Amino acid sequence: MVDVLVVGSGGREHAIGWKLSKSPKVGKIFFAPGNGGTKNNIPIQVDEIDKLADFAAKNNCFTVVGPEVPLAMGIVDKFNEQNLPIFGPTKNAAQLESSKIWAKTFMKRSHIPTATFEVFDDPASAKEYVKSKDHDVVIKADGLAAGKGVIVCNSKQEAFDAIDLILVKQSFGNAGKRIIVEEKIDGVEASYIALSDGNIAIPMATSQDHKRIFDDDKGPNTGGMGAYSPTGVIDDKLAEKIQKNIIDKTIESLKSEGITFKGFLYAGIMLKDGEPYVLEYNARMGDPECQPILIRMDSDLFEYLKASADGTLAKLPAVSWKKQSAVCIVLASKGYPESYPKNDEITGLESVDGNYTVVFHAGTKLENNKVLTSGGRVLGVTALGDSLQSAITNAYSAADKISWKNKYCRMDIGKKGLLYL
Ligand code: AMP
Ligand code: GLY
Repeated sequence: MVDVLVVGSGGREHAIGWKLSKSPKVGKIFFAPGNGGTKNNIPIQVDEIDKLADFAAKNNCFTVVGPEVPLAMGIVDKFNEQNLPIFGPTKNAAQLESSKIWAKTFMKRSHIPTATFEVFDDPASAKEYVKSKDHDVVIKADGLAAGKGVIVCNSKQEAFDAIDLILVKQSFGNAGKRIIVEEKIDGVEASYIALSDGNIAIPMATSQDHKRIFDDDKGPNTGGMGAYSPTGVIDDKLAEKIQKNIIDKTIESLKSEGITFKGFLYAGIMLKDGEPYVLEYNARMGDPECQPILIRMDSDLFEYLKASADGTLAKLPAVSWKKQSAVCIVLASKGYPESYPKNDEITGLESVDGNYTVVFHAGTKLENNKVLTSGGRVLGVTALGDSLQSAITNAYSAADKISWKNKYCRMDIGKKGLLYL
């Protein structure tokens, strides 16, 4: 048996640890730093790479990295140098996520479908470009900005304001030294996540996120307010097309440039007139997509993560998934994605049955045996059901049993999936 160190503190990491705990090959699971729902928490932050390496070495762990920040810092390179086993992409490979400009120029030279774009570091030229276009645009800060660096604009004025916010007011610091101005594509969004060992990539179950804070996709973007799996938005034919024209092509093109991508490769897809375009790459699992995907996974997650790290994915059978649907509702604190109160006591957690419904913790902490809120996205209530509608019903009935003073959630998670049945 192998002990595992899960790096991260969100709902995604709780779900990864939960699924790994079902593997007969996995012993103890540590979380760094973890949250109020995870056990064996180690007080090391995700960016303290040397300390994480020391811990993994002393405790003989296989390390699984959840979030993008340590990947972009080169945690995998560091572990590789010390011969410590780790799952995730190297710093070079993680550029697909850590630099939107790198990713867009990569897509352009690899002929991977994406919105047309230009790169700017000077506000006047960016505004001239916007003026010259007869379509709406999306303004994106180049670097990592915790999901906030993308501004979808519905008028030229909104675009000018976004350019000023990033390039003049420097609201995202160095991450916003350069921007992308790209064509806004109106369509339907879905998440396509695959697992690669650098040679091949195998698909995970499909899913759809709900990025906006309010019902009916209104209000500002968030990290994700809920997700469901599978999604009818991506049927088998489309999945094949995305796998071939986007995922496989990405892995092959990276390889031809000398970059071996090991880890989860996430393509944020916009579908327009039946054609998939890549909005963004992530070099990791989605959060909250991870929660409904993993609750549906029958195969042993550990075997797949290990094979990704070892470059032996081709030896494993296709991943097997439950036929059931799964829905994850994010319970957040009112005010998120801006500022929100913390330290509210959460009640009702014990009333949720753990077989078909699992409550994954994110922004929580344990204090004097009480579970308190400590982040914007607090819990991910994740339920299975024999249909998407029954998974929605199961997830909301569990979510209703949980409360705290400033609880907020969208009431329409999964609803848009019902249109595609
Ligand atoms: P990203 O972080 O690049 O995925 O952007 C966050 C969100 O902004 C996406 O999930 C989309 O909802 C939206 N978005 C990004 N790029 C575009 C685009 N070219 N057209 C329309 N919406 C976009
Ligand atoms: N849910 C979107 C993301 O993880 O980036």
